[in-house]
Amino acid sequence: MLYRLPIAFHITGMAILKIARMGHPVLNRVAAPVADPTSPDIHRLIVDMLETMEDANGTGLAAPQVHVPARIVAFFVSGARAKREDGATREDGAEEDAEPDDVPLSVLINPEVEPLNDEMALGWEACLSVPGLVGQVPRYTAVRYRGWTPKGEEIVREAKGFHARVVQHECDHLDGVLYPQRMTDLSTLIFTSEMGAQADIETAHTETARAESEDP
Ligand code: NI
Repeated sequence: MLYRLPIAFHITGMAILKIARMGHPVLNRVAAPVADPTSPDIHRLIVDMLETMEDANGTGLAAPQVHVPARIVAFFVSGARAKREDGATREDGAEEDAEPDDVPLSVLINPEVEPLNDEMALGWEACLSVPGLVGQVPRYTAVRYRGWTPKGEEIVREAKGFHARVVQHECDHLDGVLYPQRMTDLSTLIFTSEMGAQADIETAHTETARAESEDP
């Protein structure tokens, strides 16, 4: 079944939307594909999602998080953030010298993600729908993803590290999966306020928690 927005969306203005929290059924269901990525209703929803994401200081947001069960995600990954996160999670402690380019603010409709190899890595994630907590989540380190823009253009990209992590986190929302369900060691599911106890990654945590990842 394709997702079509209810009529009521025609009469709502640009708005900061309420974010669903873990336990709300909309976060546990498989979201429906969007019938027409270019429709005015979808455009309006996306504008609201971006405003909501900015207001919440999120790195990303998925439509189910604003109670709309449609396959739409948005995210932004600055090069500085990616370098910081990937440097913090590398097991050998070494940091990449070069700062990757920013991943521009991206909206993907009906996205698909595929891993480029079997390699996975642990990294810290937070989620606007799981406020106050952070956890270490295994994710594929390199993926290819594709989806449609609100203009109806196809995007195909390859991503690694934190960029790949953000995309996997957001697209999981479309399949009803929250990051704690991906965790393999729940002892690393901790309150953001306790992150200072792990000083070596404190900086990365603070940033991760302030942003959604999410979004991680
Ligand atoms: Ni999330």
